[in-house]
Amino acid sequence: MSTTSIKKGLSWALKALQILTVRKMLSRPIPRSEIADHCSSQSCWMVVNNKVYDVTRFLRMHPGGEDIILEYGGHDATSAFIDKGHSPDAYGMLTEYCIGRVVKADWFPEKNFT
Ligand code: HEM
Repeated sequence: MSTTSIKKGLSWALKALQILTVRKMLSRPIPRSEIADHCSSQSCWMVVNNKVYDVTRFLRMHPGGEDIILEYGGHDATSAFIDKGHSPDAYGMLTEYCIGRVVKADWFPEKNFT
């Protein structure tokens, strides 16, 4: 095996390790006290079924308007999101914005997606 291919392999392994580390950091359990700090259009997080969503870059794209999401910024939006009766597309979009889970000690009872 040539030195160049060893270097290439190591560089790929390093990149993969960096991606895994970043993912791990992003999916760390988050306390509700920290979520509460993200309640503005500069940084807006919300919780649905104990998963944390950073919806900052989605605010202006929300078909139901920015203000209604901001109302739930920093809070639990489980009932609001589910009771509104969002489409399967909207449920699918959630994954894109998920940044982690709420710490177990702060979990609320989960609601079935409809
Ligand atoms: C990440 C979170 C959210 C996503 C991805 C999302 C996505 C969407 C999408 C795609 C629509 C268009 C209609 C549909 O496909 O259902 C919509 C409409 C709407 N959403 Fe959201 N939404 C989110 C959070 C919320 C929250 C927390 C509320 C609070 C009640 C809300 C209230 C509404 C309302 C009132 C509409 C109005 C239009 C209609 O009546 O269909 N959404 N949302």
